Amino acid sequence: MEEKPVVPTHLGIIMDGNGRWAQKRALPRTAGHLEGLKALKRVIKEASLLGIGFVTFYVFSTENWKRSSQEVSYLMSVLVSKLHGELSFYNKHGIRVLVCGDLNGLPPEVRSVIDSTVKATENNTTISCILAINYGGQNEICRAVRRCLADDPQKEITEADIRSHLDLPQVPPVDMIVRSANERRLSNFLLWDSAYAELGFYEKLWPDWKADDVQSICKDFSQRVRKFGGVE
Ligand code: IPE
Ligand code: IPE
Ligand code: MG
Repeated sequence: MEEKPVVPTHLGIIMDGNGRWAQKRALPRTAGHLEGLKALKRVIKEASLLGIGFVTFYVFSTENWKRSSQEVSYLMSVLVSKLHGELSFYNKHGIRVLVCGDLNGLPPEVRSVIDSTVKATENNTTISCILAINYGGQNEICRAVRRCLADDPQKEITEADIRSHLDLPQVPPVDMIVRSANERRLSNFLLWDSAYAELGFYEKLWPDWKADDVQSICKDFSQRVRKFGGVE
């Protein structure tokens, strides 16, 4: 019998290098973000073909508000138009869109398009595409703790309580976090669940990612030995 390749159930991706991709071509940073969205589509499509169940993409961090107002408003407007404009793509490939992050901090038009996209794709079952928008791991943990205390102000909070009050408690912990553009840090991504995630750092800039990059990640993942503090 042929051995099935081991793929992560949940892959997290820190999409980095859009600005550098544009800079190399003497284009505005916004051109890099637009190209980055094309890479996202290639990657989620391949991930679904490989049998990955969940992919979380880091789209906009709680720290990205520090960028110029032009760049921030471009990112917000491209989110609105692409979420809306790609509905047929999601539905064609069975992609369920979910979102994590501090959505209250987003402009109302972004929130509304998020709500409608999540609703319009809720019956898709091939893969979940989780968009981390206005997301920060520290912020998510703080909000989770606040939600625990709102349920019971006297509570002695446990790890399990925090896990069950994260933004998407139904989504399994991330198995592998990868980052493009040769940066080797988490930049506040999925801090709670990264406790035992495998990490992978790759040189290629995000807009250049193709289907075969997802295949190499899965190969890399299948060779990792996960011990979770135990012994083999
Ligand atoms: C990642 O690319 C996209 C976002 C953070 C929104 P960058 O915009 O950070 O690209 P570099 O790091 O400047 O090349
Ligand atoms: C992380 O990338 C955030 C996203 C990919 C959305 P950044 O480019 O913002 O991270 P730093 O500032 O280099 O750590
Ligand atoms: Mg960057």
